Formats: sequence, C-alpha cells, structure tokens
Amino acid sequence: MTRWAVALLVCVAACGDNAESDERQGGATTVDDRSALAFTHYASNLTPDELQMADAGRGPFDFHWEPPQLGPLFNNDACAGCHASNGRGLSQIGNDFDIDVNGANSQSLIRCSLVDGTPDVPGGNVPVPQYGLQLQDHAVGAVPEIHAALTWEEQPVLYGDNTVAMLRQPNLAITTPDGQLLAPDILTSYREAPAIVGLGLLEAIDDATLEALADPDDLDGDGVSGHINHVWDPVANATVVGRFGWKANAPNLRAQVAGAFAGDIGLSNKVFPESDGQRDVSDTQFDQTVFFASVIAVPASGPRNGKAYIGRTRFHDFGCAGCHIPTLVTGDSVIPELSHQTIHPYTDLLVHDMGDSLTDSRRDFEATGREWRTPALWGIGLTQLIATQATFLHDGRARTLEEAILWHGGEAMAAREAFRTASKSDRDALIAFLMTL
Ligand code: HEC
Ligand code: HEC
Repeated sequence: MTRWAVALLVCVAACGDNAESDERQGGATTVDDRSALAFTHYASNLTPDELQMADAGRGPFDFHWEPPQLGPLFNNDACAGCHASNGRGLSQIGNDFDIDVNGANSQSLIRCSLVDGTPDVPGGNVPVPQYGLQLQDHAVGAVPEIHAALTWEEQPVLYGDNTVAMLRQPNLAITTPDGQLLAPDILTSYREAPAIVGLGLLEAIDDATLEALADPDDLDGDGVSGHINHVWDPVANATVVGRFGWKANAPNLRAQVAGAFAGDIGLSNKVFPESDGQRDVSDTQFDQTVFFASVIAVPASGPRNGKAYIGRTRFHDFGCAGCHIPTLVTGDSVIPELSHQTIHPYTDLLVHDMGDSLTDSRRDFEATGREWRTPALWGIGLTQLIATQATFLHDGRARTLEEAILWHGGEAMAAREAFRTASKSDRDALIAFLMTL
C-alpha cells in the first residue's frame, strides 16, 4: 500500500473532512492546557497507580545529579537541564573549560564516529577511540573531552513575492584541551534536545503501519520516499525499527533513556552497567524514568480561526502531509491507556532525504547524512511559549517556523517551494495552522 493510501484509509476512518475531529491530538490521553506548563502533565486517562509511577520517574528526570554518580564525563547534570518543562532544549553547547559540575550550560550534544572501522553493535556507527560515539563537553574534577564554540552564519533567501528572509546555520568549532581542532576524520552531528510529549503513543504505533507508510523507491512517484531506519536494540539484542532521536536512531524509550543516562549524564544503569555490574541509577529509578518519558501528555489543539482553517488546507496543498502524516492509530502498548488511540502526531517516523543544506554528513545506522526523521508537529505551536529562546530543526538553526520550512530540501523541495512561492496570506495561514498544533 502506498503512503497516500494508508493516510487516506486512516483519514476516512478517523478524521474525514470535519475540521474539529482532530482536536484530541493524543486521543484519550489528551490534556487541555495550552499554557507554558502544557507539557508537564501525564496522560489524562492513567490510573492512580500509574500516576504515582510517573511522578516517581519525574524525580530522576528533574534531579541534578552530583558526584560520585555524575560523570566523570557528561553534557548536563540533569535530563531536565536539556528538556526543560519536558519541552525542547536551547541550541547551546558548553563553551567553557572551567565549568565542571555546576553551571552545566549545554542543552545540546554532539554525536561522533569514524567512517571506517568496526562498530560496537551490528549496523552501528564506528566509535572514535578515546571518545566513543558522543563528545562530552563537561567533566567532574577533570578536563572535558572537548570545547565547543557555536557561531552562526546568516544568508538571505527570497520569497516568491521578493521579500527577504534571513536563514542562519551553525558553525561549530570543536577543539581538544590542547587547543587543537578536532581531527578532521572524526564525523560529528550536532543535535538539540526535542520535546518529549506523546512518546509512548509513538512507540505504540505498529511496525506494520510504518512499513506501509514507507516507500523507499518512490513507487507512487510523488517525490517522497521515506524509509524505516533499522537500528540495534541493546535490550532485545536485535535489529529493530528505529523511532526516536533526530534520525530515528534509537529503537524505543528504554534504549533512548538508557543511552541518555549513560552518555549525557555519565550514569551507569541496568542497560549499561559498570563492568562490575554496579549502577548509578537503581533499576527501580530506571523503570520509573522510562514510564515517565512514555506518558507525558499531548495537549489538545488550539482554537482555529478562519485563517488557521485555510492554513490547514494549505498544509495538504503544499504536500506537508506527505511526511507529517496527520492521523495514525496506535497498536498494543504495555501501557493499556496508550493502546488503540487515534492520534494526530504529524509524523511518519520515517527518515527522508532533506537535501545538502541540512546534511550532517554522518551516517546513523541506515540513515545517511542527508536523512532525518520527520519530527512530530503536535505541540509545535507551544514551543516558544514554553521556552522563548527555543528554536527548530535538529540543530536549532531555525528561529521561526517559517525558517524551518525554508530549510526543507531533498524530498521536501516541492513542499518548500510551494510555501516559498505562495502569497504572504497563504504563508501566514499555514503558520497560523501550525500554531494551533
Ligand atoms: C545534554 C542534553 C541532554 C540531556 C542531559 C538529555 N537529553 Fe534527551 N535528548 C537530547 C538530544 C540532543 C536528543 C536527540 C538525540 C538524537 O537525535 O540522537 C534527545 C532525545 C531524547 C528522547 C527522544 C525524543 C524523540 O522525540 O525522539 C528522549 C525520550 C529523551 N531524550 C529523554 C531523556 C532522558 C530521560 C534524559 C535523562 C536520563 C535525557 N533525555 C537527557 C539531549 C539531552
Ligand atoms: C519529505 C518529507 C517532509 C515534507 C514533505 C515536509 N517535511 Fe517538515 N520536516 C521533515 C523532516 C525530516 C524534518 C526535520 C529536519 C531537520 O531537523 O533537519 C522536518 C522539520 C519540520 C519542522 C521543524 C520541526 C521541529 O521539531 O523542529 C517543521 C515546523 C516542519 N517540518 C513543517 C513542515 C511544513 C509546514 C511542510 C510543508 C510546507 C513540511 N514540513 C514538509 C520532513 C518533511
């Protein structure tokens, strides 16, 4: 079945043409809050026991870890340091060798690897001797691995009506403690922290649904050819469908959270224990944190005026819905309340070629440098209410939703051009619609 056929089937069943029926973006888990606290609620249909479990998991998530657990190498001392209020992090990275424990100011991270060599896990990236697969810019009582200085380069782009938009892209200077630039054969990928709402619902979408959406050879000829990123699951010890991370490079929340504890904060855990089996994060804390990360609720969409209704139509006209699939249905979840929900995530969880301008030139499992996972758009209109300085795209280069769209290329070139050459009122209508998600 082609992606259109699947989207259509789901749509006929669930959304039809009734503009209001997509208001419960997270199905029965949806909460009604579009304030700056919108992402701080749990799925609205959890049992009292589950609510207690989620709240227990908020502890290790919000906690600012300290030595001896913290580090020795880390990027930030708390999950919430990068995912504040469960929203996205700012595009900023440590730039001071003097910072060790306190004042952790990185809200982003840099993945690294080599082109040639032996990966740690089947299909994985080749770790850099001494650094592994992530560069830590903070350390406890020692010198961090690297110093990263982020600057931005601006360039103009013209809309169809000849008004100018300024786009900026990051220029990351990474140096080692002796002041040398990082060796040029080390591939790097600079990524900001995404919001963490509705992730248990995305995890509950059946593999078969994603397989049906995939169209790797573009058999339907629509110019869009997303594919699944198959990745290694360190829990199941198997290659499975990737869903999380900017390149769908993590298989599930368990693996994502285990990797975050270990790589981002330097905390051993039940998936990545010390060589003697010890863990900094207890198994109970670990399970609670995974549960917490699974049940952060998606807010209901905001009220739509006439402009936003037009924008909703333009979203389809411009071809945005070819990747940002509006409606999907979840399968079975270990959390029963997340099962069989009609949801409106605006993603296909597939990776797409987004062109040369967005490439990080670094493969991540089966995703090439140019390929990125379609991010979910539910809640995107609240991004800068939750954190006024927050920005968009994998490295946070886009200061506005308009800029994010103007960076689209590759398979999304036609959609980008439809937006760029549209009238100002149609462009504004599209943004007004995005602001209601
Ligand atoms: C230094 C900043 C930083 C810290 C600390 C951090 N994260 Fe993240 N988080 C990120 C980045 C960057 C990504 C995207 C990773 C990628 O693309 O590979 C991410 C991705 C995620 C995702 C997947 C989201 C998605 O939509 O795919 C989850 C879940 C998550 N983090 C949870 C956590 C938890 C739980 C912790 C604490 C144990 C944590 N993070 C600590 C930066 C951080
Ligand atoms: C070919 C698939 C595809 C199409 C078509 C597409 N997008 Fe995207 N979109 C993506 C991918 C992949 C990213 C992430 C790129 C990155 O981070 O470098 C993205 C990112 C975004 C973001 C930023 C999300 C975030 O979390 O920062 C917005 C907003 C967005 N798209 C809106 C749109 C709109 C509006 C359209 C139609 C004009 C559109 N997209 C068309 C695949 C697509």
